[in-house]
Amino acid sequence: MKSLKNKTVLITGASSGIGEATAKLFAQNGARLILIARRKNLLLKISKNLKSQFKTEIKTIQLDIRSYKKTASVINNLPEEWKKIDILVNNAGLSRGLNTVQNSKIIDWEEMIDTNIKGLLYLTRLILPDMIKRNSGHIVNLGSIAGHFTYPAGNVYSATKFFVNSFTQGLRMDLLGTNVRATSIDPGLVETEFSIVRYRGDKEKAKRPYEGMTPLFGKDVADTILFAVTRPLHVNIQELIVMPTAQASLWHVHREKK
Ligand SMILES: NC(=O)c1ccc[n+]([C@@H]2O[C@H](COP(=O)([O-])OP(=O)(O)OC[C@H]3O[C@@H](n4cnc5c(N)ncnc54)[C@H](OP(=O)(O)O)[C@@H]3O)[C@@H](O)[C@H]2O)c1
Repeated sequence: MKSLKNKTVLITGASSGIGEATAKLFAQNGARLILIARRKNLLLKISKNLKSQFKTEIKTIQLDIRSYKKTASVINNLPEEWKKIDILVNNAGLSRGLNTVQNSKIIDWEEMIDTNIKGLLYLTRLILPDMIKRNSGHIVNLGSIAGHFTYPAGNVYSATKFFVNSFTQGLRMDLLGTNVRATSIDPGLVETEFSIVRYRGDKEKAKRPYEGMTPLFGKDVADTILFAVTRPLHVNIQELIVMPTAQASLWHVHREKK
């Protein structure tokens, strides 16, 4: 098992859910963290807690990854001691609305495509060359079960996650001959802020996907990310689907009646 001790790990979308849980687990395992998200106050709070709990170094960066210009400026101007990134976790992502194609808002499509696809591409393109130069590194992309099957009104969100899956496959091919690894972690239902964001703060609606069942939690997905990045160097977990026991597919969820 590879150790995370003193490895530098950049996590996007670290202000809540899977990203926050991954930051905690990685800090616990001795990693130095660069945490990125738009909500600065949350990042600062998380960073303060993790620093006092695990005595690890943490750098927080308020950034909207939809802007290539801003993302490039942040990555290209990292202080010397933070430049060598060992692991990039491309986790920031979101879904907006649950609408048929004919009823969808263009602005929702753009937000999902700009974050889930373009933001992930920007970070990867900016960080990968240095990993290749050092012949060492790992890129973990957050896909989804929605990147394997689509569902009614899931159209564009699902397509962005199909992209993540296909891009990770292509990345693996382009990295052949190097020691840089790439992984797609593809969860089923995880209870995070995801559904609240999808329904723009409607908490009642946001609860429904998890009703009568035990979903995954951020920590469960963080565990699988930790597993992938701590395999010996000759092992590349290429794609990992992780589901709640009560969910067998996008359409098969066992719910206990009240
Ligand atoms: N929850 C699920 O059921 C589930 C299932 C499969 C896959 N996933 C994937 O898992 C990943 C994490 O989602 P989650 O469930 O943990 O949701 P979450 O709790 O809503 O977290 C999403 C994170 O992404 C950040 N983010 C969103 N837009 C951003 C932007 N433009 N720039 C920078 N950061 C941005 C958010 O931070 P700020 O708002 O502070 O920027 C937040 O930290 C996503 O890629 C999602 O598609 C989730």
